[in-house]
Amino acid sequence: MKYLTDRTDLTVLKIGGSIITERSSQTPKALPGEINRIAGEIAGMAVEAANKGNLIVVHGAGSFGHPLAREYRLTEQFDMEGVIETHRSVRKLNNMVVDALNRAGVPAVPVHPFSSFLLDNGRISEMFGAHISVMLERGMVPVLHGDVVMDATRGAAVLSGDQVVPYIAQKLGAESIGIASVTDGVLDDKGHTVPVITPASFDEVKIHIGGSSHTDVTGGMLGKVTELVDLADRSGISSRIFNASIPGNVRAFLDGATVGTLIQKDK
Ligand SMILES: Nc1ncnc2c1ncn2[C@@H]1O[C@H](COP(=O)(O)OP(=O)(O)OP(=O)(O)O)[C@@H](O)[C@H]1O
Ligand SMILES: [Mg+2]
Repeated sequence: MKYLTDRTDLTVLKIGGSIITERSSQTPKALPGEINRIAGEIAGMAVEAANKGNLIVVHGAGSFGHPLAREYRLTEQFDMEGVIETHRSVRKLNNMVVDALNRAGVPAVPVHPFSSFLLDNGRISEMFGAHISVMLERGMVPVLHGDVVMDATRGAAVLSGDQVVPYIAQKLGAESIGIASVTDGVLDDKGHTVPVITPASFDEVKIHIGGSSHTDVTGGMLGKVTELVDLADRSGISSRIFNASIPGNVRAFLDGATVGTLIQKDK
C-alpha cells in the first residue's frame, strides 16, 4: 500500500505531556480538565474538517512516561518489566486522550508506536503506516504518542512524540506542524519568544535552549527544536512551537494563526 504523499492539507499536532499531565509528578497524574479543553478546541476544527482526513494528533507522555523510563533506566538498558510497565502507563494516557476527543465529537482512534514502529539506536528505522493512511482516507483522526518501542540494537528504547511528529509529517507529506507545550514558543535569555529559527540561526539561539525542568528522557525544548530544525533543513517543512496552556491557542494554530516560534528553512 503506498503512502498518500500527495496530500496537501495534512496537519500534525503534538500536545505536550506538560499540558495534559502534571509534568512534575513522579507518579502518573492526568489533567482531565486540560485534556477536555484541548479536545474541545480540536473538535472546533475537526467537526468541520476532520472528515477530509487531514489531522494527526500525537501526544507526549508527561508523568505517565518520563518517571517510569527513568526508574527502569530505559535509555541505558533493556528491561523487559520496564518496557511492559512504561507502555502500559502511556497507553492509559492515550486512552484518556482518545476518549476525550471522541466525547467532543472527533473520530479519533489510537495508534500505539509500540506496535507500529521499529527503532535502531533510538532513531526510527521503520514504520508500519499503511493503516494510518487508510484511517485518514476514511476521515478518522489517528492519535499517536510518546512510547517505549522495540529497538533492533538496544532491545527497546524511548521514542519521543517529538521524533514521531517530523517522521510522520515527512512520510505522509504534512503541510502544517504544531508542537504545543507550556511556554510561549522557544524563549531567549530574556524570556521573550524567538519569532523564527532557521538552520542557519539555530547555532546562535541554541545556547538559550535547555532540556526540561522536570524528570525527562527525551531532551525537553532542545530535543524538539533539534528535531524540527533538522526536518526544515532536510525537507523544507516548517513548524510552530506554541503555548497550549493559553485557552484558544490550539484552535488558533489549527485555523492558521501566527502563534509561538516558527521553525523554517533558510530562504
Ligand atoms: N529556551 C527555552 N524555551 C522554552 N522552554 C524551554 C527552554 N529551555 C528549556 N525549556 C524547558 O523545556 C520544557 C518543555 O519540554 P518538556 O519535555 O518539559 O515538555 P513537553 O515536551 O511538552 O512534555 P512531554 O515530553 O511529556 O511531551 C519547558 O517547560 C521548559 O521548562
Ligand atoms: Mg518533552
